[in-house]
Amino acid sequence: MAGGTTDQKEKVCVTGAGGFTGSWLVNLLLSKDYVVHGTVRQPGDSKYDHLNKLEKASENLKLFKADLLDYDSLRLAIEGCSGVFHVASPTPTYLKDSDPEARIFQIMLCYEFLEPAIKGTLNVLKACKEANVKRVVVVSSLAAVVMNPEWPKDQVKDETCWSVPEYMKTTKKWYYLSKTEAEREALEFGKRNGLEVVTVCPSLILGPILQSTRKCSSFLIVMTIKGDLESLPCNYWTFVDVRDLAEALLLAYTKSEAAGERYICHSHSIGIRDVVEKYLRPTYPDYKYPKNLTYAEEEVQHINSEKLQKLGWTFRPVEETLNDSIESHRKAGIVG
Ligand SMILES: NC(=O)c1ccc[n+]([C@@H]2O[C@H](COP(=O)([O-])OP(=O)(O)OC[C@H]3O[C@@H](n4cnc5c(N)ncnc54)[C@H](OP(=O)(O)O)[C@@H]3O)[C@@H](O)[C@H]2O)c1
Repeated sequence: MAGGTTDQKEKVCVTGAGGFTGSWLVNLLLSKDYVVHGTVRQPGDSKYDHLNKLEKASENLKLFKADLLDYDSLRLAIEGCSGVFHVASPTPTYLKDSDPEARIFQIMLCYEFLEPAIKGTLNVLKACKEANVKRVVVVSSLAAVVMNPEWPKDQVKDETCWSVPEYMKTTKKWYYLSKTEAEREALEFGKRNGLEVVTVCPSLILGPILQSTRKCSSFLIVMTIKGDLESLPCNYWTFVDVRDLAEALLLAYTKSEAAGERYICHSHSIGIRDVVEKYLRPTYPDYKYPKNLTYAEEEVQHINSEKLQKLGWTFRPVEETLNDSIESHRKAGIVG
């Protein structure tokens, strides 16, 4: 664990520090006495105000302006760090948009995710090698695991399962492709260059928000309590709490046996009927829940995180994630 005076403390970099996951990871690292270099694209923007309010941020957090496609900006942020958590990646928005044109635009944008995701990851890794970083933890996604029509249907998908690029190109799953290619390149770069790379593949990330904006996957819970779910493609939730994910990323960084490995980070698989009837309605009876509480069989994924649990990872119960998410969105004034 990091400790000592600021000069002696272990310094690590978090890319995408202001995002949903990045913010919780920065919070965890500061609480463990790391000095954190966080990358953001628009320093000074109020969307990062929450970062400066984190405990120990005033002494131990420094924000750097960096874009994944700008190698030099990444190099500056990574200089002097012994570890890097590469969290940043373009992510699809889960906000409902009443304008159908806007939805089409989002899908096209997903195609444009490929370059920042793949080239951006390689830029981060090159900068890590140049700066003699000890270990890089790359946040991938279950998207890089599950898009595999060749995998036997009755077999649990584990870390040996990879999404198939040709299948994703044919089905235009550009976000999935971006995460798969970026993760593969990262592990191969590590092997070729003697850099310790660990990849972590989270399922859908839910949980409380630290930031005040609503553009993140946890907004799915808000859409559920507003009865908006009909517009979403996701009625079977395969999810992990953002705080448990942050702990998983730290384990991936600190455990020596994790070098070069890939980990699925997933806690709960649950259909929308159970989310609503078992967990949400009993605690929050007054919200307007969706009427259609069914899901398609293809949405169900058989996965687990046994490998990560062997590293010592644990996760919190469903109700804690759901209740804390709602309370944090209430606190941010996003729901009543
Ligand atoms: N959310 C999910 O359900 C989910 C599931 C599995 C995996 N993941 C992965 O987990 C990671 C974090 O996801 P999240 O949901 O926490 O994301 P998020 O809140 O959308 O944050 C993404 C971050 O990436 C940064 N970013 C995007 N494009 C960039 C670029 N070109 N250059 C520099 N920074 C860029 C953004 O920076 P700015 O603040 O500067 O805009 C933002 O801070 C991502 O790698 C994502 O693919 C997410």
